[in-house]
Amino acid sequence: MLVLGIESSCDETAVSVCRMEKDRREVLSDCIASQIEIHKLYGGVVPEIASRAHAEAIGGLCHQALSEAGITAKEIDLVGVTNTPGLVGALLVGVSFAKGFAFANHKPLVAVNHIAAHMAAAYVNAPDLKPPFFALVASGGHTSMIHVKSYTEFETVGRTRDDAAGEAFDKIARVMGMPYPGGAEMDRAASLGQADIVFPSAAIADDTLDFSFSGLKTAVMNYLHTKEQRGEAISIPDVAASLTKTICSSVEKKLTMAFDRYNFHQLVLAGGVAANTHLRSAAERFCEQHGISFYVPPKHLCGDNGAMVAVQAYYEYEAGHRAAWDLNAVATGKK
Ligand code: KG4
Ligand code: ZN
Repeated sequence: MLVLGIESSCDETAVSVCRMEKDRREVLSDCIASQIEIHKLYGGVVPEIASRAHAEAIGGLCHQALSEAGITAKEIDLVGVTNTPGLVGALLVGVSFAKGFAFANHKPLVAVNHIAAHMAAAYVNAPDLKPPFFALVASGGHTSMIHVKSYTEFETVGRTRDDAAGEAFDKIARVMGMPYPGGAEMDRAASLGQADIVFPSAAIADDTLDFSFSGLKTAVMNYLHTKEQRGEAISIPDVAASLTKTICSSVEKKLTMAFDRYNFHQLVLAGGVAANTHLRSAAERFCEQHGISFYVPPKHLCGDNGAMVAVQAYYEYEAGHRAAWDLNAVATGKK
């Protein structure tokens, strides 16, 4: 089955064609138009600018995705689109385009949850990965611990109570003068520093699987501010390494708690922050120590992309889900 996946929830317009069968998950094309250069000027995503940029990019990108896959619109069997969560104006561009495509070509349409799509990216290079599994999704908007019961049934058992992990990376990176979004740059800087500054944990000290990144973010900001006021030198690599180490150990702490509680055999790490070299290693080490199989998408499928939407769309379709013509965008989605 040929699936067209459309993603426009934040600052990447993405369209992909995937060939999906029971035991086959193949990405035929994966086209992304990033708006980072535009939003960089403002230090973060400007919602209206994002919507307009999606509207400009989406048609051409769809053409490109079909042509790189070597197929025509008529050959597509299924259209999948992210409709939640995200910036509502941005989501509406993808949703409207997907409806138009499905309507004009007489194809079924399914709605895809962005967080479910991030996890589905892990299926692409892992033919043996099948639910049930446990997942940590860490992105610019979410940090969630999810019990994945089937391809389409999810229970969020832990979440951030304030900022997401990616948001903490980005905000601190910005204060340290790194370009938006600072996650990738922070990753590189962390490899060059000493993780010897003590920052407070992001793992909430109770019996939940929840996180809080805002206290950590404030502590790092205060550290930078105090150093500046005292006229003392700041080592950006050391701050990056210490922040990253704190985030990794906070994640390990909650994963240990989750493992005790759910005794899972497979762990998926997904979302934009799953591209972080140090977090990937920490999660892999954790899995080795506990005899858990570890899955993480290749780095290029960790950030927002259309392939993850196409893959999840296939499973939604298999489960009998169909979107009606009144499908709408929803800013905050449950999963
Ligand atoms: O999943 P994503 O592309 O968009 C959302 O759904 O939010 O995630 C974007 C986030 C940004 O905060 C970005 O800085 C972060 O992922 N990110 C990273 C890395 N690459 C991207 N964070 C840490 N290390 C990285 N290598
Ligand atoms: Zn995302």
